Amino acid sequence: MKVKVAPSILSGDFANMGQSVRSAENWGADYIHFDVMDGVYVPNLTFGMPMCKAVRPYTSLPLDVHLMIIKPERYVQAFCDAGADIVTFHPEASDDVGKALELIKEKGKKCGLVLNPDKSVQLVIPYLKKIDIIVIMGVYPGFGGQKFIPDVLSKVKELRALGYDGEIELDGGVTEQNAQEIVDSGVNVLVGGSSVFRSKDPQKTISVLKGQKE
Ligand code: DX5
Ligand code: ZN
Repeated sequence: MKVKVAPSILSGDFANMGQSVRSAENWGADYIHFDVMDGVYVPNLTFGMPMCKAVRPYTSLPLDVHLMIIKPERYVQAFCDAGADIVTFHPEASDDVGKALELIKEKGKKCGLVLNPDKSVQLVIPYLKKIDIIVIMGVYPGFGGQKFIPDVLSKVKELRALGYDGEIELDGGVTEQNAQEIVDSGVNVLVGGSSVFRSKDPQKTISVLKGQKE
């Protein structure tokens, strides 16, 4: 699988989100990673459906919406209507994971589950046939710019050993330095927040991230 890069606009310019999204596309991004935080599931607040709708016209790339909210089933369809192409959420935050995935599928969008560093692959195993993407957190969610926890890569290897051949995205702490190790474990989508938006040359950073040997 070709390596894809999903810049996280959590590290973009909050006063000019349209421009941040447009820049990421011009730099060579494959997806736009969109971090939604509710101040309850994680100790931080970001943005919701109106921001999704507002940035939608600024890019033709898929919007990869990562919901860090409790009871995501309440909002998954509203994000699809606001322009999301991929919607992922944390299974332990949902009262009915199967239903939340179904709601996304009903809208014709891609769905996925996210595993925090302390969560086991057991949580996603019952849903492997239903989901399009698995997101492995490289940090505890809530903030950009944290340090990568390398132990999480064992879960990527476990999923590939189980025969899961869909997309695996690594979110949190990805840098030009650790990208090869992450790709070697079986990841094919790299989220880059601070590594991309705080780079002196974001275009080069994206091309380095994408250039990792599979
Ligand atoms: C963390 C978010 C990540 C974050 C990644 O809570 O889910 O998507 O933006 O940022 P970096 O790449 O800076 O770790
Ligand atoms: Zn994220």
